[in-house]
Amino acid sequence: PHVLVLAGGLSYERDVSLRSGRRVLDALRGAGLSAELRDADVSLLPTLREDPPDAVVIALHGATGEDGSLRGVLDLCEVPYVGCTAAASRLAWDKPSAKSMLREKAIRTPDWVALPHDRFSELGAVAVLDRIADRLGLPLMVKPAQGGSGLGAAVVRDPAELPAAMVGCFAYDSTALVERYVAGMDVAVSVLDLGEGPIALPAVEIVPRNGVYDYAARYTAGLTTWHTPARLSPPVAESVASTALAAHEALGLRDLSRVDLIVDADGVPHVLEVNVSPGMTETSLLPLAVQAGGLDFGKILATLVSRAAA
Ligand code: DAL
Ligand code: MG
Repeated sequence: PHVLVLAGGLSYERDVSLRSGRRVLDALRGAGLSAELRDADVSLLPTLREDPPDAVVIALHGATGEDGSLRGVLDLCEVPYVGCTAAASRLAWDKPSAKSMLREKAIRTPDWVALPHDRFSELGAVAVLDRIADRLGLPLMVKPAQGGSGLGAAVVRDPAELPAAMVGCFAYDSTALVERYVAGMDVAVSVLDLGEGPIALPAVEIVPRNGVYDYAARYTAGLTTWHTPARLSPPVAESVASTALAAHEALGLRDLSRVDLIVDADGVPHVLEVNVSPGMTETSLLPLAVQAGGLDFGKILATLVSRAAA
């Protein structure tokens, strides 16, 4: 089949996406598929109508690639794609909505407050921040309600750090997600469905060298150490895997996703978020998990493509 890999786009994660796209392209070609890399811009629309590919692989991160909008266009053009539906993507991409759904399904996720910028200005920063710190305690995690790659995210350990964290966050989104900070081990579980139902790949433990898994730590070789599988006891590893699968299912996801969690000191997993378009770069977590699971990235993509195109 002829496969179009979409990457780039106009989100804050454009550069990351181009790296993911090239890696996906190489893997597809390595698996013997005819694949082409395209930027997701307006010139894509005539192609989808006049020379539609057999399937699309979305290596776009951030807004268009993950919020369901591009998937809606592909649906409209009747072009099949690997990955979650438009509606499921929209739900997973908006962290407050996704967390509400997880809670509804009794899946643990840290307590949170979603704070639109308007409300912040209207009530006054000091009052709002006091109220949040009272309700959630410290430390806090502040991140854009919609975003990725750690952009605009900050840990707040002291109330005095909260205003700057909010400003940094509002640079990326008009709504901030303020979350109770759960201390523990950072893990990512990639979920794959190759036709026999979703399976959890080995959890990847993330140990950033400077303690914070920010943009630089994610995409600069040498700034983060990974342990795959994560250094967890068998029962905790089992509960991490089943929590990830439960999150994937609760949000109605399809084909592949990556569930990011914190395992607290008691071995209890808390879901932070679910990614419908997980990074595929040289330092990204899903390709690491695939390798650790003894699987072949190209073959997995080829299987997902043939399922999508069928
Ligand atoms: N948002 C980045 C690409 C990730 O989750 O891997
Ligand atoms: Mg993310």
